[in-house]
Amino acid sequence: MTFDYKVADLGLAEFGRKEIRLAEHEMPGLMAMRAQYGESKPLAGARIMGSLHMTIQTAVLIETLVALGAEVRWVSCNIFSTQDHAAAAVVVGSGTADAPAGVPVFAWKGETLEEYWWCTEQALTWPGGDGPNMILDDGGDATMLVHKGTEFEKAGAVPDPSTADSEEYGVVLKLLTRTLAESPNKWTTIGQGIKGVTEETTTGVHRLYEMHKAGALLFPAINVNDSVTKSKFDNKYGCRHSLIDGINRATDVLIGGKVAVVCGYGDVGKGCAESLRGQGARVIVTEIDPICALQAAMDGYQVTTVDDVVGIADIFVTTTGNKDVITADHMAAMKHQAIVGNIGHFDNEIDMAGLYKVPGIERVNIKPQVDEFRFPDGHTIIVLSEGRLLNLGNATGHPSFVMSNSFTNQVLAQIELFVKTAEYPTGVYVLPKHLDEMVARLHLDALGVKLTELTKEQSAYLGVPIEGPYKAEAYRY
Ligand code: NAI
Repeated sequence: MTFDYKVADLGLAEFGRKEIRLAEHEMPGLMAMRAQYGESKPLAGARIMGSLHMTIQTAVLIETLVALGAEVRWVSCNIFSTQDHAAAAVVVGSGTADAPAGVPVFAWKGETLEEYWWCTEQALTWPGGDGPNMILDDGGDATMLVHKGTEFEKAGAVPDPSTADSEEYGVVLKLLTRTLAESPNKWTTIGQGIKGVTEETTTGVHRLYEMHKAGALLFPAINVNDSVTKSKFDNKYGCRHSLIDGINRATDVLIGGKVAVVCGYGDVGKGCAESLRGQGARVIVTEIDPICALQAAMDGYQVTTVDDVVGIADIFVTTTGNKDVITADHMAAMKHQAIVGNIGHFDNEIDMAGLYKVPGIERVNIKPQVDEFRFPDGHTIIVLSEGRLLNLGNATGHPSFVMSNSFTNQVLAQIELFVKTAEYPTGVYVLPKHLDEMVARLHLDALGVKLTELTKEQSAYLGVPIEGPYKAEAYRY
């Protein structure tokens, strides 16, 4: 069997395979999916294009989708997040480096923006002319490319890269200019073949709801992020683990005793603040939402604005999914060697474009994904992963156990949309609560958790079935 792929080095496959083997033990939800659906193969006939950080944990997800019958092509959803040994192992599969027998992956650590979007296009372009019929997205870039391409093709308009409001969007417009010339109906055809998308993260879900509100959504979507067993676990406990992992690997600065500012106190911010406090930092939170600000205050954090503390803090972390949260002016006013990093999905939370434009600014690369920026007055700041999510750029992202929860939701969502397509008219949906509870249940034994069972009388008293679901839809956990 031959297939197209592009990764850094297939020689890393053996190392990747060993880590995948260890990860499988830590991912009981995914392994339960294999045991439950491995024979019936509900994803037979599914052609899944995945755009999600190509890590060891994602390798276990990909191989689970394949075990359930799917054909898969994969890219990373970030230029820095690929683990090259994971990508190699997925490509090699049960074959060898000379005769790979796995899954086509187009991803390596340290892609340029042009390479990143080229990879996305490759994974969306199925050999033989068929497109994918499912997308598994993280942040919505693959979904966006199909929608933007369709929009330009329908309008018969040639994109003008010079009108782009960011370097990255300019790259997308250049790509679409080329595909329009080469294959004028490429994206419309791909869009029409897609049964649905399952979206992993807050930012991607936000984009989906916006498209649906504007009447532009082309196919149904399942919002995996808002499964409780995703956002209340991965976003919170995952970041609690991987934020400080990223800061430590990047800088090895002692966090204890430092002043750390966490911008945003949503699910990600809560995990980040807790981990920094756990290391002994004095944590300050910024928020725009009075409810989250009040939560932060009651959790014992000082809540104020970036402007108020910009000159006294040692570490700044953005977790908002918003843009321009830390500006070039903020960075100019920071202490010498302040550390600045982002853990939200896109790189515009920190105004990197503005930083590069500061007159006289000098960039000194310390090591991959760690840069010092020297201002004309001599003081410097340390920027992690060029403002892209630091837990995946400077470390290895979330650990397997928490990703098993997220990815079990992904598998269930893919099955749901692929098998029950007719039940999901175009719109954005969340998985039903009984499946959310099932995902949690699959992870209890591994932690030695013993559940209490409702008695018949208690069940009748509360009006809650013994087997669940246990909470009303409005319950917030
Ligand atoms: P969320 O919506 O729960 O929290 C974001 C918080 O930021 C909100 O409370 C909001 O009020 C606040 N905020 C917005 N603008 C602000 C501003 N200018 N200043 C201060 N606070 C502001 O979202 P969640 O789930 O915490 O996700 C945040 C980001 O992290 C998203 O981009 C998401 O996609 C990404 N994410 C990254 C992960 C990673 O591994 N790096 C994992 C999960 C999510």
